[in-house]
Amino acid sequence: MAKDAVRVLVTGAAGQIGYALVPMIARGVMLGPDQPVILHMLDIPPAAEALNGVKMELIDAAFPLLKGVVATTDVVEACTDVNIVVMVGGFPRKEGMERKDVMSKNVSIYKAQASALEQYAAKDCKVLVVANPANTNALVLKEFAPSIPEKNITCLTRLDHNRALGQISERLNVEVSNVKNVIIWGNHSSTQYPDVNHATVTISTGEKSVRELVADDQWLNGEFIITVQQRGAAIIKARKLSSALSAASAACDHIHDWVLGTPKGTWVSMGVYSDGSYGIPAGLIYSFPVTCANGQWSIVQDLKIDEFSRAKMDATANELIEEKSLAHSCLN
Ligand code: NAD
Ligand code: LMR
Repeated sequence: MAKDAVRVLVTGAAGQIGYALVPMIARGVMLGPDQPVILHMLDIPPAAEALNGVKMELIDAAFPLLKGVVATTDVVEACTDVNIVVMVGGFPRKEGMERKDVMSKNVSIYKAQASALEQYAAKDCKVLVVANPANTNALVLKEFAPSIPEKNITCLTRLDHNRALGQISERLNVEVSNVKNVIIWGNHSSTQYPDVNHATVTISTGEKSVRELVADDQWLNGEFIITVQQRGAAIIKARKLSSALSAASAACDHIHDWVLGTPKGTWVSMGVYSDGSYGIPAGLIYSFPVTCANGQWSIVQDLKIDEFSRAKMDATANELIEEKSLAHSCLN
């Protein structure tokens, strides 16, 4: 029997990521090839005409899974009964800025939209925050939407996770699908810690550790980390615009695995509400390694953390503590 349609809200849908993301959702990349969807797209009034153009293109694409499109600048209409929420709306950073430099503009959007989601979205809606500063926007959303379960509010660090997989695959000249279990710890910012200590590559003789195969700790502890941390800035420098197709694809991966589960033996990185695991202060949205089953994520426990990793995990947690207080001062 055909499944009921799932309502997916994309905020900032007239923007760059939105334009890459909505066709992926309508094609089943996010929720699977047998899951009908109704797309809700929100943007602000100056973008209303462009948003309507995106709606026209969605109709013209005749996606079999797309059962309806709501394109609106009314936040209540956008949020009503939505099951999945991808929050892209906001302002991107420009060359030379850190992601937290867009804090004051973006956190107020997250405060305002939190109440609409809380009142009008489905009670078990799953929320993914993409707009920067992603972790802190998600935290603000969580604070101003107290009735949405904290486990349902997450932020995107899957792009960083995928970037780390991509760098290892390029370095070893192996298929990216054979690399797994990298970890992004902490903030989606230049303090994030891409960790390969538990990552493996499947080769003809079985699974081997990335450290063993790369056999160059200096590269893994230096250039590799910096490349992943700075990849967003490198893309802005090259495109004069921030990443969009890779961000949209990572957003689909994040929701896909959260809803449909991670493969056995594989974890992914998600920004989630810390419960104090690995000594990371509770009350931050921090990126951890997680596995997903039955629509729920769980932090992978008991990984061995060496001194090098500990220092990097703490540094990115400290930046999130600072961002949290900066966000509160922007909102007061
Ligand atoms: P963009 O400027 O092309 O699009 C943003 C859209 O949001 C615009 O259409 C704008 O009108 C809309 N918008 C602004 N305020 C809004 C509001 N209050 N409600 C609804 N919509 C609103 O930007 P983009 O390149 O699509 O990037 C969007 C955000 O995603 C930026 O903050 C960017 O830094 C961030 N980003 C995050 C990641 C990640 O991995 N977490 C990756 C790439 C980009
Ligand atoms: C990215 O990582 O590509 C995005 O967060 C955009 C940015 O500002 O770096």
